[in-house]
Amino acid sequence: DWNPGSVIADQVAAIRAQVGEARVICGLSGGVDSSVAAALVQKAIGSQLTCVFVDHGLLRSGEAEQVETDFVAATGVRLKVVDARERFLDALAGVSDPETKRKIIGREFIRVFEQAAREVVSDAGSAGEDVKFLVQGTLYPDVVESGGGEGAANIKSHHNVGGLPDDLQFSLVEPLRALFKDEVRAVGLELGVPEAIVWRQPFPGPGLGIRIVGEVTAERLEILRAADAIAREELTKAGLDREIWQCPVVLLGDVRSVGVQGDGRTYGHPIVLRPVSSEDAMTADWTRVPYDVLAVISTRITNEVPEVNRVVLDITSKPPGTIEWE
Ligand code: XMP
Repeated sequence: DWNPGSVIADQVAAIRAQVGEARVICGLSGGVDSSVAAALVQKAIGSQLTCVFVDHGLLRSGEAEQVETDFVAATGVRLKVVDARERFLDALAGVSDPETKRKIIGREFIRVFEQAAREVVSDAGSAGEDVKFLVQGTLYPDVVESGGGEGAANIKSHHNVGGLPDDLQFSLVEPLRALFKDEVRAVGLELGVPEAIVWRQPFPGPGLGIRIVGEVTAERLEILRAADAIAREELTKAGLDREIWQCPVVLLGDVRSVGVQGDGRTYGHPIVLRPVSSEDAMTADWTRVPYDVLAVISTRITNEVPEVNRVVLDITSKPPGTIEWE
């Protein structure tokens, strides 16, 4: 019989055995996976752990604040914040291919961590002591879809599994590697992670970088952030957060269509709403969001985000469509 208490006990023992007295670093993204992984590791080894939050500039509106206040308040974990927004934008300049974007983001993410790890060591004034381990919130479906499981196809290189640089300096600690999402939530609740974090909808590591079809630019990120914030606000207001597994909001950066706003013709970008219902993200159905809610989202986005003149709804299940567009 599966139960979260025994998973926690097993993982606490396994983490202690794996890392010994070494220092450990954990990347916090603000999502369920990294938060529960960090809470588990902190339960196992306490002050040997330092969490690092990389602001890669691909986050949604308000997410940096959620990590820096909500999670820290709930766990008391020591947090180092790295502002890497410029670095990621530079690395992504001119790149449109989805897998290339994912690999660049994964590579830069690890390199920023390596730098942060060096700073953690020197901040602590303990020269000669290495940060040898990196915690990752990798789940079982991530392992399978990256080709790590039996009979699996390499569908996408999820950045928390594939795409690591050759000169990686860390060994990985992956306490959630055998778990599905609902099991991770049960473990999180058992560990006392706040419900607001445990029930947060999944958001991919590469963030908005894989929700802009085409090149990622600062301007496009601003457009997408504004549209996404409106969609999330209205879906929450309509009480749909539990019914919807996640709702990617996608900017078709390389597509323009003709519209009319105010007195003039416009030639703007479409925004795609991708609400899906799912148990574990392996399969999904598109969520039948009430028309009235969709109407409010569409009206607000086109009124409040001038660069967007069209909102479309993705009515594809997985399979054949994946949840994300890239
Ligand atoms: P797909 O698009 O493959 O997504 O149906 C399945 C789930 O995985 C998330 N996802 C990612 N998570 N790095 C991540 O950490 C990634 O590169 C990535 N790509 C997709 C997606 O949001 C969904 O929950």
